Amino acid sequence: MQAMVFSRYGDESVLELTRRPDPVPGDGDVLVEVRAAGVNPVDWKHREGAVRNDRPFPQGIGWDVAGVVRATVPGGPAVGEAVYGMLPLPYGGAYQELAVLPASAVAPKPATLTFAEAAAVPLAALTAWQALEAAGAAAGLRVLVHAGAGGVGHFAVQLARHLGAHVTATASARNLEFLDRLGVDAPVDRAGADLAAAGPFDIVLDTVGGPTQHAAWPLLRPGGTLITLPEPVDEAHRLPGITARRVVVAPDGEALRRIGALIDTGSLHVEVQAVLPLAEAAQAHRVSERGRVRGKLVLALPGAAPMGAGRHDG
Ligand SMILES: NC(=O)c1ccc[n+]([C@@H]2O[C@H](COP(=O)([O-])OP(=O)(O)OC[C@H]3O[C@@H](n4cnc5c(N)ncnc54)[C@H](OP(=O)(O)O)[C@@H]3O)[C@@H](O)[C@H]2O)c1
Repeated sequence: MQAMVFSRYGDESVLELTRRPDPVPGDGDVLVEVRAAGVNPVDWKHREGAVRNDRPFPQGIGWDVAGVVRATVPGGPAVGEAVYGMLPLPYGGAYQELAVLPASAVAPKPATLTFAEAAAVPLAALTAWQALEAAGAAAGLRVLVHAGAGGVGHFAVQLARHLGAHVTATASARNLEFLDRLGVDAPVDRAGADLAAAGPFDIVLDTVGGPTQHAAWPLLRPGGTLITLPEPVDEAHRLPGITARRVVVAPDGEALRRIGALIDTGSLHVEVQAVLPLAEAAQAHRVSERGRVRGKLVLALPGAAPMGAGRHDG
């Protein structure tokens, strides 16, 4: 099969499109013919060596797939079924023609999405889902989502609104109208934002880290919850009375089934900034690393229908 791999940690130039033996599914795994692979910041963090695993080089890369089941297990999806899912961290292997995933990590591809759109969903939407669940998000609570226009953020703001929360979200000026379209109650320009005036919040989702995490503590009311995603909780800035924890996303086919239902009923919009061919993975990483993507970037595998060629391509 064709696969994007890397044989040492480094910048985008270490990515290499090559031929690899077809992967062999283990017990409980399905084999998926990948039509599209989602791009996430963890992909380039892995390529750089900030996220590592114990596998030898060359290593596969990427965690999000949408494609067609080629081999399955009893109780799993049917051979030929269109599915989407997330590979378990920390072992990448989505930027390739065939991917292996636990059957429990996949769900039927949302019928209203192309493969490219579906590949944009799993890791980012599951992160948003699991972060809101960990925070106890519920109707009436005031939630602040940092980077509301990003991959995780654009799912988080919509899911929090769906739960009935009051949602404030940060973005640069060019994305404020986008946040408004996603249903954000209070879009805030991250340049010079007076977030203290918009608070206090019951929940803050920090998708940025560093000073953004540090500044989050005093925005929370006593008893509030801070969820961090890029980094662990920095205890040096802890304030009493605030619950804080880092969420690390895990595959969950059942949650993807429920997320798919929200997508298919029009309750959850999937924003795809661009679809690039697999061969342009290095360019996708360059764009992702600049930190300005609206929604998601996706890689299309050879033979996949181009974006917009038909939404019902399953
Ligand atoms: N712990 C986990 O399991 C987990 C899971 C997923 C992601 N993450 C991490 O969470 C982070 C976000 O992931 P992602 O996929 O959402 O990234 P992303 O899609 O690349 O985020 C890009 C967005 O960030 C916004 N942004 C950049 N700097 C900002 C700032 N200072 N304030 C507000 N918005 C800012 C940009 O909006 P503007 O251009 O409008 O500013 C852009 O839309 C990454 O570090 C990722 O590795 C962790």
